[in-house]
This record gives sequence, C-alpha cells and structure tokens, in this order.
Amino acid sequence: MQADASMMKIKVEELESGMVTADNVIEPGTDRILLLKDTVLDSVMIFNLKERYNVNDVWIKTAFSASTVAEEMRAEINIHQSLNTLKSVFGSDDEKPITEFTKEASEQITNVTNELITSLYADDNILLKMHQLQSYDDYTYKHCLRVAMMSVTIGKSLGLPRNRMHDLCEAALLHDLGKRTIDVGIIRKPGRLTDDEFAAIKKHPQNGYLLLRKNGGYTEEVMNAVLMHHEKFDGSGYPLKLKGEQITYLARIITVADVYDALTSNRPYRQPWSVAEAEEFMMGGANTHFDYDIITAFLAAFAPYPVGEKVMLSDGRKAVVVSNNTNVLRPVIKIESENGDGETIDLYNNFKYLTLSIKSVIKGETIE
Ligand SMILES: [Fe+2]
Repeated sequence: MQADASMMKIKVEELESGMVTADNVIEPGTDRILLLKDTVLDSVMIFNLKERYNVNDVWIKTAFSASTVAEEMRAEINIHQSLNTLKSVFGSDDEKPITEFTKEASEQITNVTNELITSLYADDNILLKMHQLQSYDDYTYKHCLRVAMMSVTIGKSLGLPRNRMHDLCEAALLHDLGKRTIDVGIIRKPGRLTDDEFAAIKKHPQNGYLLLRKNGGYTEEVMNAVLMHHEKFDGSGYPLKLKGEQITYLARIITVADVYDALTSNRPYRQPWSVAEAEEFMMGGANTHFDYDIITAFLAAFAPYPVGEKVMLSDGRKAVVVSNNTNVLRPVIKIESENGDGETIDLYNNFKYLTLSIKSVIKGETIE
C-alpha cells in the first residue's frame, strides 16, 4: 500500500464508528485479514479489534464523501438489524435448546427475508459484507444469515423469480434452526464428537423441519429445503439419501451456500480457506456433492479474482485481472510492466499457459 494524504494511521483507542479503513486490517503476528479495506467501522468491529485481536493501529481514510458513508452505514445497519432479529429468534448457541418456533418468531423471519431480498437486489458487494460478518463469533444465527445472503445471491445469478426467492431466503435463514434443539454441550464441544453426539447433530435437518411443521405457517417448499440441505447430489448425504432432482431445487442452492460458508469461516481448529481454495474444492464436487448448474451460477456470482484485482502469478510476475472466464480461477490477466504494455494472457483458453496459475491476491495495492 502506498500511504498518501488521503489516509492516516490512528491508534485503535481513537477509532470511531463510521470511519472507513484505508487498507486491510491484519491480525498481528499472522496474515489473516480481520477487516477488508473500505470497511465502515462500527462499535462491534472496533471492540473486536481492540479486545480480541490486539490490533494497535489502523489505516483510516481521512477524506471521504459524506453521502457514501451515509449509504454504507445504512447497509451496515440493515445487516446488524437482521443479525439482532435473528439472534432474538434463534437465541445464542450458549442458551438452552428451543422446543418450539412461534408465530411471532416466523413473522420476524419474514421481516428479515423482505429486508435481505430488497437490499441484496440493490447491492452486489455481498462478499465484502459477509466477510465483515465473519469477523465476529461464529454462532448458528450468524451462519444462517450468511448462508441466506449467499443463497439469494446465487438465486439472483440463476434468475430465480421473486416469489421463489422469498421461499429460498426464508428456508436459508432457517436451515440450521434444528441445531438449536440439540444439547448445548454437543453443539459447542470443541473436540472430536463421539458417534452418539454426531448422530444427534445429524438429526438437525429433521428437527428443524418438525419445528416448522408445528408452526404451521410454512410451505412444503420451505420445509423440504430445510429437511434436505445435507443431501448430496450423488445420494451420499443425509437424512434421506436422496439423489439428483429428488432433492428440491432450493435445497440444492442452500447446500452450495452452506458448504462454502463452512469452508471459509473461522474454526477453532483451522484457518479459514481462501475464496479460491474453497471454490476449487466446490468445482471438484460438481455432480457428486452439488448440482453442476448451481455451482456454475455460484462461481459466476462469487468470482474470486474480480476485474481490477492485482495478483501474483506462480512464476513470480505480477498482473491485473482484465476479465473472467467460465473457470473463474483462470481469468484473463495483463502482466504488470513499467510502461503499461505488458502481455495479456488468457489463463483458461490459451493452452500455452497451462502451467501458469494465480498464486495469490496482492492485498492492499490499488490499481490506477
Ligand atoms: Fe446444517
């Protein structure tokens, strides 16, 4: 990153809500990104930087347009409102298990659904928002919110009509509701699960389905999507071992979002996978674990190397992403050079470059 007059480094104690990061914030002593550049800070983020991650200082933008900030703050507040509502409906994973899902709770879920669909139709910057959500503790209701945001984005990429989008979003918000019926000790257990504990966890799709059935306000579409979100395309999933199109379309979408979120989230025992690693894994699961068409729509919606991103190549050269291919891990790039006449290489279609690949994203550098 090149420091200039538009940014300044300030102590974490002096951060205020509404300030915007001028660079990625990295956890001290690691290379893990806590917050991305251009994040509008809120009080929770500031608290986490200070208390959980021991960050000392942060690069902040000094000049920014007030209207941009107001807009970003509004989007930020919506996410927080949704998160708070979900928390009140689900309860945190540390609380005692739930035994019913009330009419009031389902009304709240409908409100969050409407809110999310409206804001996600207007906003393409979904990855950024999800990463912001990932910097907090990882509870079921947060995972459900991220999966809903991603499912709607995939639905958008698939051209799903608005009414089915509503069912999709509701089902995604509720897909792991059944986890809240399971004993806290099992859900929050940090170590390896016994066979019995694992069997109890695997009951969560049915448990969620039954809660919704008892509630009485849900369509078969929504309830089935909750029931089937751990089925796999080749029939090796659970609980019903359904195959291919026996698994409802909405469930197949939620499965893709669910696995992607699990791979890219923080876990106590491992670092999150990078976007590119997770997407490579998921491409490998097309037609076995996942529906091929849905994976294609997912990859199109979540290109890991967006146009303008600066990348390091496997041969040590730097380049800029010029456009994306159907294989989003192998875009068209332009090699960086002093006078701007670097070679343009199509990493997917030009077989001469089969052994050349993108090694990493060069973080914190902007492309003019
Ligand atoms: Fe689940």
